[in-house]
Amino acid sequence: MSRQLTFHIFRFNPEDPKSEPHTDTFVLEETPSLTLFIALNKIREEQDPSLMFDFACRMAICGSCGMVINGRPGLACKTLTTELPQEITLMPLPVFKLVGDLSVDTGTWFRQTNTKIESWIHTDQEFDAEAVEERMENDLANAIFELERCIECGCCVASCGTANMRPDFVGAFALNRIGRFIMDPRDKRSNPDYFEVVGTDQGIFGCMGLLACEDVCPREIPLQDQLGILRRKMAFQGLKNIFKPKEKGHHRRF
Ligand code: SF4
Ligand code: SF4
Ligand code: FES
Repeated sequence: MSRQLTFHIFRFNPEDPKSEPHTDTFVLEETPSLTLFIALNKIREEQDPSLMFDFACRMAICGSCGMVINGRPGLACKTLTTELPQEITLMPLPVFKLVGDLSVDTGTWFRQTNTKIESWIHTDQEFDAEAVEERMENDLANAIFELERCIECGCCVASCGTANMRPDFVGAFALNRIGRFIMDPRDKRSNPDYFEVVGTDQGIFGCMGLLACEDVCPREIPLQDQLGILRRKMAFQGLKNIFKPKEKGHHRRF
């Protein structure tokens, strides 16, 4: 016999002066292979057309549908109701600006953070549209790709104690991204350059290392390893900065 699922869903429209934060309850019969994506669409179609939530790809690659599912950030399109108890509580991701109900604006946060950490290849090489693509060793290309799999869903940020306390913390997403550039031989930044970007409390030294981020990452990116490597590199660089403040080459070249 199929289960009757009870959804407790956070409701609030910051654009509506009459709206107050509250929870609405909806009951839905569980069907085979029901995901939260399908369940929310059914609720919106059959019970409340005003319910706000975000989806695009429905296959865990666009990162739009992050929400807090029974207290844990995750992707609604990837979550089967069979993985959950009969009572399901859905909240919007914290840290990000609330658009309404379960919809948050992750795009602005990611754009600002990518700008802050200078999330692009830094090179003084002139762009040549005719140039033959440079070769890269397969192992290195695969290692970079492993970190490139982030879909900017925001789950790691929402789960992070530091990010919840300090709006200027760049989060595991950004620290992982820096790890990706450190590995890339095309990026000519040196450790002192990276230290200027993430060698602060807003960066790696704000991380408490409890690794909620890795636990919730739907792409299973090895955040623990990346944060550890970056912490060691930046701590070493910090010591060098103290003992050799005038080290040659410690300047931004780009
Ligand atoms: S390990 Fe660091 S980045 Fe990850 S959740 Fe904890 S404080 Fe945040
Ligand atoms: S690192 Fe994982 S949890 Fe964080 S934004 Fe990327 S895919 Fe989402
Ligand atoms: S809808 Fe794209 S990740 Fe869920």
